[in-house]
Amino acid sequence: MSTPESGPGELRLGASQVPTTTEIPRGTAPTPGVALAAARVPGGPSVPDAEPIALTALIQRYANELFTAPPASVAPGSATTSTAAPAVPVGAPVASAPLGGEASPPTSAFGFSDAIALPTAPSAPPAAAPPAAAPPTSAPTTPAAPSADASPFTSPLRFDALGDLGALPLISFPLLDDTSAPALAPPAATPAPDHALAYELVPTDRPSLGPVTGTGFDPHVLRREFPILNERVNGKRLVWLDNAATTQKPQAVIDRLKYFYEHENSNIHRAAHTLAARATDAYESARDSVRRFINAPSVKDIVFVRGTTEGINLIAQAWGRANVKAGDEIVITHLEHHANIVPWQQLCLATGAVLKVAPVDDDGQIILAAYEQLLGPKTVLVSLTQVSNALGTITPAREMIEAAHRHGAVVVLDGAQAVSHMPVDVQALDCDFFVFSGHKVFAPTGIGAVYGKRALLEAMPPWQGGGNMISDVTFERTTFHGPPMRFEAGTGNIADAVGLGAALDWLMRIGVANVGHYEHELLGYGTARLATVPGLRMIGTARDKAGVLSFTLAGQKTEQVGGMLDQEGIAVRSGHHCAQPILRRFGVEATVRASLAPYNTCDDLDALVAALHRIQVGR
Ligand code: ALA
Repeated sequence: MSTPESGPGELRLGASQVPTTTEIPRGTAPTPGVALAAARVPGGPSVPDAEPIALTALIQRYANELFTAPPASVAPGSATTSTAAPAVPVGAPVASAPLGGEASPPTSAFGFSDAIALPTAPSAPPAAAPPAAAPPTSAPTTPAAPSADASPFTSPLRFDALGDLGALPLISFPLLDDTSAPALAPPAATPAPDHALAYELVPTDRPSLGPVTGTGFDPHVLRREFPILNERVNGKRLVWLDNAATTQKPQAVIDRLKYFYEHENSNIHRAAHTLAARATDAYESARDSVRRFINAPSVKDIVFVRGTTEGINLIAQAWGRANVKAGDEIVITHLEHHANIVPWQQLCLATGAVLKVAPVDDDGQIILAAYEQLLGPKTVLVSLTQVSNALGTITPAREMIEAAHRHGAVVVLDGAQAVSHMPVDVQALDCDFFVFSGHKVFAPTGIGAVYGKRALLEAMPPWQGGGNMISDVTFERTTFHGPPMRFEAGTGNIADAVGLGAALDWLMRIGVANVGHYEHELLGYGTARLATVPGLRMIGTARDKAGVLSFTLAGQKTEQVGGMLDQEGIAVRSGHHCAQPILRRFGVEATVRASLAPYNTCDDLDALVAALHRIQVGR
């Protein structure tokens, strides 16, 4: 690859500046600047589609982040990678690419504008070369004074028009191949909770409470990144065990939102002014974070939506209306959240298609043989959850997708409850659509994403019409943009999309696999401890579970249990969890549900179990 020449005030990535492929040792968190290119599994494609737009944006961002990577990772207890960033003065001027000729309006590094014009040539830098603001860390920070073009989140350096990109090496990122499970610590004495135990509890092994060797993961350090966990509720330490309803937000996400509103806020993809470019960069950079997080081939395959519910409705209305007809069959499972039942019922009502439901066994596991019997030539679509929100069952999604494909059906995977617990790779899963909500994965509410295979998205008509999704409008006819913008009518939730990007970047630095291993141990610990509570019936005892402990207590109404736990500062969800059919399968209308996140510890579960013991003896 030839080294491109740099124009004045601009920096282009040459071969000598690109780090060679580096295996980052386990236990170290890569700097954000080198984490870009490789959240993928062995055997997956080495680079996203060789489409010029996405690849250029990818490399631009890669280079921008690399050259302005924060000095220290926010991953707790972790070291930064030894990969050295080339010495480039931070705060070098921005090289915006002009869209047309002499005038050089501020242009998104992602090349978005109403006309979706792409940068084609380097431009003169702006007059001033302000210093970059200090990058945020996990600790509360006061963002540096705003500077003309510097953001700690989107680099002030732009790498435009990179030329030959084909031979760029990639940095490997140890997210998806990290299989080292945290070792169990020797049984530790249960620390005294801040209230007396009603019972002597059965001693049970506690997962390691210290740093998990070789991963850099330490739940106690991680907790410090969540300011809300310092809250006191009813005079007690807050024990947040309602993570399946929503997760708490790390300081990195809170800071990112604050920064956006203080320095970047604008509408996107429109207007030739600086803030529009900043906001567009931030928004499109978040789309790339989503792409990396689920290993989608291209940013064009990622549509921002409000959340999983809106995502499934989008698919049901846009894909479904165009492809489903009377007599066709749609298969779901008994485990589904209402959001993965009702949109399909509505589609069936509108089209005359038939809804079929794959059953579960008494542990809450899909009966695969029965599922496969439902599939046939009339099956046009299968929609299933990856993890049940009510029981915690992990479904054999890969196997079920493969079976559906053997019958030519399109598969929607609801990842709402999976994304915070396990690495997701949409290419390895081979799902046709994947949907998740940001707020379940440490991001703000009101933002989520739909991944769709390119051919499906391109063939889908728009769902909603309006601004942003059109390429031309007359009173006679309208033409639409391609995906993803075709599906993003109107002004979206820009700031929260940026917050979603920050949350996913944060989680990728922690390592989703590390989180999954830790939570698996915590789930085992909680399951054993809850079994000591008199009259407790666990609902959902699948062999493969993630993050959920759902139960009833003999003689107690779930709502009252929720209220009594709240008196102890413990937040759980009690009710039907928007999944009435699966609870009724177990003969109940409601459960108490404790659900886990990586900031939960054995102490949290001990507090829950002790409180339940007290409830059961009426104290
Ligand atoms: N779907 C969310 C839950 O399971 C709201 O609680």
